[in-house]
Amino acid sequence: MIVVRPGNSINGELGMGFRYTIPGDKSISHRAALLGALADGESVYENFLVSGVTTVMLNALSETGVTWELADKTLFISGVGIKSRRKNIKFEQKMVRIECGNSATTMRLLAGALPTMGIRAVLDGSPGLRKRPMTRIVKPLSEMGVLIKDTNGCAPLYIEKSKQPIKAFSYELPIASAQVKSCLLLAALSADGTTELSEPGPSRDHTERMLKGMGVMVEKDFYEGVDLKDGIHWKRYITRLKPAELMSLKPLKLTIPGDISAASFLITAALICKESELKIQGVGINPTRTGLLDVLIEMGADIRIENERIAGGEPVGDITVRSSKLEGVKVTGSKVVRMIDEFPILAIAAAYAKGITDISGASELRYKETDRISSLCQEIRKIGIEVDEKPDGFTIKGSRPVGDTTINPHGDHRLAMAFTIAGLESQNPIYVSNPEIVDESFPEFFAILKQFGAVIEVENNN
Ligand code: S3P
Repeated sequence: MIVVRPGNSINGELGMGFRYTIPGDKSISHRAALLGALADGESVYENFLVSGVTTVMLNALSETGVTWELADKTLFISGVGIKSRRKNIKFEQKMVRIECGNSATTMRLLAGALPTMGIRAVLDGSPGLRKRPMTRIVKPLSEMGVLIKDTNGCAPLYIEKSKQPIKAFSYELPIASAQVKSCLLLAALSADGTTELSEPGPSRDHTERMLKGMGVMVEKDFYEGVDLKDGIHWKRYITRLKPAELMSLKPLKLTIPGDISAASFLITAALICKESELKIQGVGINPTRTGLLDVLIEMGADIRIENERIAGGEPVGDITVRSSKLEGVKVTGSKVVRMIDEFPILAIAAAYAKGITDISGASELRYKETDRISSLCQEIRKIGIEVDEKPDGFTIKGSRPVGDTTINPHGDHRLAMAFTIAGLESQNPIYVSNPEIVDESFPEFFAILKQFGAVIEVENNN
């Protein structure tokens, strides 16, 4: 357990020439490893996120016969190529057991990639991962002719090699999800024609950007209109992938942008603590990921983005943030998908803001590492904040948190980080149990915060 003692300001800089840099983006690191495995030749990725969930992905790839090496934060991975992999008798015959730990991204993306690699596998994971919904990938993959079975809608998943080629198809995702979209795009790489996917929101597009860089024909499109029957304004975000015959994926050499989801915790820390200023160099600012920045700015946050550039096919910038007085805000619509991982930290910003913050249209939060609506409401109440739980979100009434309580992160790395930030300016200390869960995505989280002025101590709870 740790104790966070309030009252200090948060000042410092992350980046080149400083002690710490912001870790590489988790989603991009997952894709870098997996797409590197499918490429023809060696890919090299600098600033790869070395953490619990990405190690799970790398170990899973080792099970499929892929070799890789990590030198500090640089990943060297030798791709086996899609076609050559299909001729690999050893892995075609053996049923490979793949352990996905807590990583839904590893499980869902592999479920699409393994049929393309021609590998039979059982995908399993932690008790937490076994509770997460898998029908969302199993149903469309089955429509494509992939022989996949779930266990009551969840993991373990069983993937058999089909004698028939994977069928290209058009599919409407009922919910916007980058994991589902990426899973289907990976299967579509070896399909017999063009696959078209349509989503109701702009989910992160890192897979598409990377595949394009590797020479795959991927197109993005957008349709909108008004339903004549009920007058509802609809939008559909389209992704099309055309596999080339005799597909070969070009290996990539790139630097992975800093993780905006990791940066969000530090940004919020500087906003809520007095006399704080923080600069974070090289943060990924892909518009499908910057919903939280938009919302915080709407709440009155002093956030500046400078030196915008493209690096490794992704928009990147340097972010400066200063202490700010925040006001409550309404969050719904496409912003929700553009900040899907940032609701735990938004809840803390909302607790420190004046007035009401209302989140709706976010029922997907119930299917994350934990039911983030229920767990967040439960824990935020403990720190003395008024909250109303709704089926698709929550409403928070801002007031300085009382603290003096122990937070249970419910096995969720983002809850542990969000409530650590909550303790930086609360009336009393906040205790967080099982803090080691942050290693899943941000192993340097506590060290960075402490270097910037936070007082966080290990507390013996015996
Ligand atoms: C991710 C997509 C999101 C996100 C997760 C990472 C990805 O999940 O919550 O942390 O890397 O594709 P969904 O696609 O299920 O919304």
